[in-house]
Amino acid sequence: MRRWMLVVGLASCVGPNSMGEHADDDPPDASGAIDTPPSDLALPLTPPSPAANPSSPAKIALGRLLFWDPILSGDRELACASCHDPQFAYSDGRQTSVGVTRNAQTILNTAWNGTVLDHPAPDCEQAPMFWDNRAHALEGQARGPLTTAAEMLGTSFTAQTIFPELIARLSAIPEYVSQFEAAFGTTGITETTILQAIAAFERTLTNPQTSYDRYVDGDTAALTAQQRRGLQILRDNRCTNCHSGPMFSDYELHPLRVPDLAGAMHDAGDGTNRFRTPSLRNVTRTAPYMHDGVFAGFQQVFQFYRDATQNPLDPKLRGVRTPTPQEAPDVIAFFAALGDAPFDTSVPAAVPSGLTPGGTP
Ligand code: HEC
Ligand code: HEC
Repeated sequence: MRRWMLVVGLASCVGPNSMGEHADDDPPDASGAIDTPPSDLALPLTPPSPAANPSSPAKIALGRLLFWDPILSGDRELACASCHDPQFAYSDGRQTSVGVTRNAQTILNTAWNGTVLDHPAPDCEQAPMFWDNRAHALEGQARGPLTTAAEMLGTSFTAQTIFPELIARLSAIPEYVSQFEAAFGTTGITETTILQAIAAFERTLTNPQTSYDRYVDGDTAALTAQQRRGLQILRDNRCTNCHSGPMFSDYELHPLRVPDLAGAMHDAGDGTNRFRTPSLRNVTRTAPYMHDGVFAGFQQVFQFYRDATQNPLDPKLRGVRTPTPQEAPDVIAFFAALGDAPFDTSVPAAVPSGLTPGGTP
């Protein structure tokens, strides 16, 4: 943030243009390409929490158990961790998740979803969630898998009957009763407190101190020469039209026309074939790529952008150039700098239900 302000300040003071002229005012070039915003903002060390759900050690400890405990699924087989596994940076390594037609997103750093250049301090009640931005806030998102048949709900319960069932199950386990009391006092076990505890835990799944963040904060040696070239290529090639800001996402929906998986039904995203720009943080750990996991690695993604930019539906794709085979290793080296900070990979030895932590899918 400091750095970005500095760059803007310098441009208006010592740049060749007259005072007050901003990059935004520059006319698009002949190709119709739009300006790429700078993306050199580091993530702060701790993410914000919503006013209605301030973090506390008791909530985080409880949320961690709930995240790993398959007791929250209708048939007691799946936990959140079944599809959000620390081994895959809290995604699941599959093209599409068990029973679901979409690729499991990473949960790392989702506490900052919605953080874009214009809003470095996002409203976490509004933080966009899912490939189509259809849910908001980690608290709101967690209702999704719990109430979806193909995910954790199963077929024995409905979206209406599952929460009374979960509250009854948790209330029958003394360890949960005392943990909810420690975290929420007399409010105890409710639909809201279940979701709040999970969200408070998810806000601890972060790795903001990557080489890139240290570089942006002034440690010029944090990136190798190759990684600095990779960052410059992403900017020069206008990938940062969309992969911008501290999360390398504009959190907007775009029609890229990613191919469907062979044999799969077409997924129309938000209904108009648009999907959200994914963050590039930890992207070297979250293969396969795209909303349907159709691309196994970066080479296929880069090949895709070669075609996608030929006849773009999205104005932000105009003038975008995919990395050449010579540039690709530099870009991939830079991607590694967006995920090389440690994060919590611990697995609870046991969960209060006595079931297998992480479930038995
Ligand atoms: C069966 C696998 C599965 C289970 C179980 C599951 N998820 Fe997910 N998760 C997914 C998939 C697939 C997506 C993307 C879905 C979409 O975009 O429609 C996703 C998306 C998310 C996101 C959005 C990330 C972003 O950047 O927008 C969060 C947060 C999340 N899951 C948390 C959870 C929590 C918390 C639980 C447990 C209550 C859970 N998930 C259970 C597969 C799963
Ligand atoms: C118009 C906005 C836009 C531009 C420009 C853009 N991207 Fe993307 N990017 C997206 C969207 C949207 C997706 C997800 C598409 C989907 O799943 O249907 C994506 C997905 C990706 C992914 C997969 C990430 C994951 O977790 O699955 C990578 C890697 C990527 N882009 C790299 C690049 C590179 C390199 C460039 C420059 C050549 C680029 N992008 C330019 C919007 C954009």
